[in-house]
Amino acid sequence: MECPIGVVGTGVMGASLARNLERNLKQPIAIFDLNQEKVDVLLAQHPEADLRGFSEVGEFVGSLKHPQVVLLMVPAGKPVEAALASLCAELEPGAMVIDGGNTHYIETEKHIAYAAQHGIKFIGMGVSGGEQGALWGPSLMLGGDPSVWEALKPLLEPIAAKAEDGQPCVTLVGSGASGHFTKMVHNGIEYADIELISEAYTLLRSAGLTTKEVATELSSWNQGKNRSFLLESAVEVLSVKDPTHEGSLVDHILDQAKGKGTGAWTVMAGADYGVAVSIIGASTFVRSASSAVREREAWLHPEGEQTPRLNVSPTTIRDAYFTARLIAYQQGMSLLAAASAENNWGINLADISRIWRAGCIIRAGFLGDISAIYENDPESASFTATEPFRGQVIAGMHSLRQTVAGASLAAIPIPALATSLNHQTLLETPRLSTALVQLLRDYFGAHTFERTDAAGSFHIVWEDDRQQIQTSS
Ligand code: 6PG
Repeated sequence: MECPIGVVGTGVMGASLARNLERNLKQPIAIFDLNQEKVDVLLAQHPEADLRGFSEVGEFVGSLKHPQVVLLMVPAGKPVEAALASLCAELEPGAMVIDGGNTHYIETEKHIAYAAQHGIKFIGMGVSGGEQGALWGPSLMLGGDPSVWEALKPLLEPIAAKAEDGQPCVTLVGSGASGHFTKMVHNGIEYADIELISEAYTLLRSAGLTTKEVATELSSWNQGKNRSFLLESAVEVLSVKDPTHEGSLVDHILDQAKGKGTGAWTVMAGADYGVAVSIIGASTFVRSASSAVREREAWLHPEGEQTPRLNVSPTTIRDAYFTARLIAYQQGMSLLAAASAENNWGINLADISRIWRAGCIIRAGFLGDISAIYENDPESASFTATEPFRGQVIAGMHSLRQTVAGASLAAIPIPALATSLNHQTLLETPRLSTALVQLLRDYFGAHTFERTDAAGSFHIVWEDDRQQIQTSS
C-alpha cells in the first residue's frame, strides 16, 4: 500500500506528526532520515504505528501515492534547502512539498520559486503546539494556492486540533509565504504573552503573594473567555517544587531568557511594514537585556537583590494583564493585515483567529470573539476598538495605569506592560508629539512635512528667509 504522505526528519516534531498522521489517516506513513539508525530507532520505539522507514530519497519518494506529498520537518536554513534540492530531483511535477518548520518567510518565497522551476508546489506551513500538539493536534497555518489546499485538506484536517465547536484548526491562511509569516507573528504574540504573564507573576510576588499563592491566583484568572494555554502553563510550572532545594522550581531558574529568533523576526517585519509591534519588541529585548550579564553586573545594586513591596492589588494586576494581552494580540493582527496588503496574500484574519482557538501556543478563550469581529468586517482597523473588546480595554486602562505607576515607584521592571500602556495611550491621544518630530526632520534634513490646514508637502528654507515653500500638492 502506498503512503498518502511522507515525512522528512525523525526529530520530535517529525516523529510526532508522522504518528499523528498514521493514527488519524489509518494508512501507512513514509518517514525519511539521511541517518538510517535514526529511522530504525523511531520504528523500534513505535511498533504500534504503521511507519515505513527510508534513508534513500528515491525509495522514499517511490513509496508515495500520486500526487506525491512530502512534509519537511527539518531545521530551517540549510537542512530545508538540501532536502528540497534532493526531493526536486526525484519528485514528479505536480508534487507538493510542505515545510512545517519555523522558516523565515523570505526564505520560503525563494523555496517556492525554486520548487516551481521543477513543477513542484512548495508550501510554507506554520505548525504550532510543540511536541504534544504535533502528536495530538497542532494548529496548522498554510500558505499557498487554493488547489494546494483542496489536495491537502483531507490529509491535514484529521490531524489538526479541534476547537470547541469541532472545527479543525487548519486552513489556507493566504497565498505565497503567508503561512510562515503567520506562524512568525504567532510566535511574536507568544513572546509578548509569555513576558506579560512573567511580569504579572513578578508583580504578584512583589505584592506579597508566595509562588504557590500566585499559582492559585493565576488559576482563578484562567476562566471563561480569559483562559489561555499560556496562563494554564504558568499555573502548572509555578506549582512545581524544586526537586533538590527548598521552595519552588522557578526560584532556582537562571533569569537569562533565550529565544530562537522568531520574536526578533517579527520585530524586524514590524519595522519593514511600518507596524508598531512594540510590545513584541519589548518582550524580545527583555530576553536580550536579561542575558547581558556583564552590563547587569556593572549595575547590580550593592545591597544585592531588592524586593520592593508593591502597593497594587492582585485584581488590578489581573485587569492590567488582561488589557495588555489584548493590545499585544492586536499588534500582531495589525502586522498580519499590513503584510498581507503589501504582498497581496489575501490573508483572512477571521480564519487565522479561528484556527488559533485550539492546538497552538497562543490559544485563548477570546479568539472566537476576535474571529467573529473579522468575519463581520474583514477590513476592521482594530478588533480591540470593537465591542466586546472596546469596553474591556477602556475599563482596563485604569488598572493598567495603576499597575505601571505602582511598579515604577517600586522599581520593578515591567517593559511589556508599560509598553502596552503607552501604545494604547498613544492610540487614544488626538495630537501626538510626532508633529515636532516632523518639523525637526525638515530642519536638519529637508525631509518636508504636511500641514493640518493645507494639502501637499512643505519645506521651510531654514537657513535663508524661513519662508515656507510647497514642494508638492
Ligand atoms: C509553537 C512554538 C514553537 C517555537 C518555540 C520557540 O508554536 O509551537 O511557537 O514553534 O519554536 O516556542 O520559541 P523561542 O524562540 O522562545 O525558543
